[in-house]
Amino acid sequence: MRLPQLFPLVSLIVTVASYPSPSFQERCAALADSIELDQPFAINVAQYLPPNATIDYNAEGLNETCADTIAYPIPVGVCRLNLRVATSERSELYMEVWLPEQWEGRLLTTGNGGLAGCIQYPELAFGASSGFAAFGTNAGHNGTSGGAFYQQPEVLEDFVWRAVYNGAHIGKTISKQFYSKDCGKSYYLGCSQGGRQGFKAVQEYPELFDGVIAGAPAIDLMASIAWFGYAYETLGFNANSSLISAEQWLAVEAEVLHQCDALDGATDNILEDPTACKFDWTPLLWPSSNSSSPCLTPTQASSVAKLFAPITYANTTLHPGHFHGYEPSLLTILYSPLVSTWLAEAFRYIIYQNLTWDPTTFTLADAYTAYTLNPSNANTFDADLSAFRARGGKMLHWHGTADPLLSASVSELYYNNVRSAMDASVEELDEFYRYFRAGGVAHCSGGLGASFMGQLGGMAVSESPEDNMLRRIVAWVEQGEAPEFVRGTKFVNESVEIGVEFTRRHCKYPRVNKYVGEGDGTDEEGWVCVEPET
Ligand SMILES: *[C@@H]1O[C@H](CO)[C@@H](O)[C@H](O)[C@H]1NC(C)=O
Ligand SMILES: *[C@@H]1O[C@H](CO)[C@@H](O)[C@H](O)[C@H]1NC(C)=O
Ligand SMILES: *[C@@H]1O[C@H](CO)[C@@H](O)[C@H](O)[C@H]1NC(C)=O
Ligand SMILES: *[C@@H]1O[C@H](CO)[C@@H](O)[C@H](O)[C@H]1NC(C)=O
Ligand SMILES: *[C@@H]1O[C@H](CO)[C@@H](O)[C@H](O)[C@H]1NC(C)=O
Ligand SMILES: *[C@@H]1O[C@H](CO)[C@@H](O)[C@H](O)[C@H]1NC(C)=O
Ligand SMILES: *[C@@H]1O[C@H](CO)[C@@H](O)[C@H](O)[C@H]1NC(C)=O
Ligand SMILES: *[C@@H]1O[C@H](CO)[C@@H](O)[C@H](O)[C@H]1NC(C)=O
Repeated sequence: MRLPQLFPLVSLIVTVASYPSPSFQERCAALADSIELDQPFAINVAQYLPPNATIDYNAEGLNETCADTIAYPIPVGVCRLNLRVATSERSELYMEVWLPEQWEGRLLTTGNGGLAGCIQYPELAFGASSGFAAFGTNAGHNGTSGGAFYQQPEVLEDFVWRAVYNGAHIGKTISKQFYSKDCGKSYYLGCSQGGRQGFKAVQEYPELFDGVIAGAPAIDLMASIAWFGYAYETLGFNANSSLISAEQWLAVEAEVLHQCDALDGATDNILEDPTACKFDWTPLLWPSSNSSSPCLTPTQASSVAKLFAPITYANTTLHPGHFHGYEPSLLTILYSPLVSTWLAEAFRYIIYQNLTWDPTTFTLADAYTAYTLNPSNANTFDADLSAFRARGGKMLHWHGTADPLLSASVSELYYNNVRSAMDASVEELDEFYRYFRAGGVAHCSGGLGASFMGQLGGMAVSESPEDNMLRRIVAWVEQGEAPEFVRGTKFVNESVEIGVEFTRRHCKYPRVNKYVGEGDGTDEEGWVCVEPET
């Protein structure tokens, strides 16, 4: 069934027919008319993109808030479709299907970020250039705002699971029709909200993907958003009148590094294992014997310490607390418009359906309501992955230990929940689910750590599975080559042009990265993954 054609078919590049076997471009030109789906759809754009082509995103009505998620040029030739697909009587999604000229027989579904609503074009380009037929949706609404969820439970369903589910199925159907072949293995790649979408598939739709890469997942979603409400409640809503000044946060970080940086054997401002940092606040207390740094009053210290400890309400632990080691960026994120907007939108549009809800009234009672209400099971924290194990799926989960937006503490908690729920040893989980802590890496990329791991578009330094998560998940699923580590590359000032600063292997949890080499930790061979002390 087709929706009325709302948009003209554009840019059909037709070349002279070459009988008997039609060229890739000819087959691409014919694709739009031959698509059969079992749900209503309309084709927005159908075009052949030659290598290094650019897309005029503005001409296609890209939402202005999605400007950060575009990519160009596209390095390989692809047959590109943009479709509008109904997901229920009251919801629809937009999606891209990129079918590369050099197809290696695999499928890749890509995820979203933030409160979603933006197709992640860099991941599509990454997938297509790696030989995958690549798909991505807008998660069922346009733009970074969550306003579309207000009194629209179907739009929320799309965001929580249905967009990825539909996107993967539609992408597979179209790939089969286009290539006239059965498709091989199906993969998923996402970070942040995209990491959560990957976990949702593994938890509830285990047949969907053979291999999943989920980075910095926004799992325990309601609690992770509410944590920021708790931080505002504790420190104040206004950066200018925060209980702790920016200078004091710097002093806290300096003291954290003083006490904990060398625990992993390297003094490099990176905490490889933040759980090993049993931070003692007393050296920071006023009056301090160390008058060279700004100190904290006991009230300030006990208040801020609560943010790094489990948050409990009504006998329920809502959040494990953030890690130490990135205090100034935590403050920056807290007082950024991004986080205050998330908090307000989550409660106004999803939890209370109250457009005038005032975030400055937040208390832990609100956090508890969000946690227990868990609309559409957006928390994505179900820990029994037996069905995914049984179907032979592989899950590569990773999280930067210096992520100020979504704490890696939640990823660790989740891994340990899975162990308990499945009554499994680490070795048993290793068969299908491995978690990697990326020391010093911030949210999805960046930070002081070695963050180029092939985990997203633009983050691959080589095609080797050791450096490239997308190649790694393929090697694990198709050759049984499971990862013992994930190697990251750190570039000077995050600039590939300036050059490599160091490389480091990120260890498989619960192993701990220890430095036994010379100097400040920049020698990759100086690091070893050791069993945790029990
Ligand atoms: C695409 O652009 C890159 C970088 O400019 C260049 O190295 C490559 O040869 C181009 N590919 C094609 C097919 O033109
Ligand atoms: C949503 O985004 C798509 C793709 O960019 C665009 O074609 C469409 O017009 C947008 N829809 C709305 C309602 O703005
Ligand atoms: C872009 O999306 C936001 C919501 O995320 C919406 O408020 C805005 O109107 C959209 N812009 C256009 C041009 O549709
Ligand atoms: C905080 O202080 C800065 C610099 O003095 C000022 O520009 C800004 O408006 C203040 N913000 C608020 C929310 O008061
Ligand atoms: C004083 O505190 C600063 C910052 O925390 C630290 O770098 C320095 O080593 C401390 N000095 C002493 C004598 O403890
Ligand atoms: C918390 O647990 C204690 C001890 O089991 C119980 O007495 C109390 O009623 C519980 N409080 C709430 C709010 O559930
Ligand atoms: C909506 O939120 C406002 C501000 O927090 C509050 O005063 C009002 O009672 C709420 N409305 C409902 C229907 O709960
Ligand atoms: C890296 O950035 C720092 C701070 O902006 C700057 O001082 C330094 O010169 C840069 N290094 C290089 C090699 O560009």
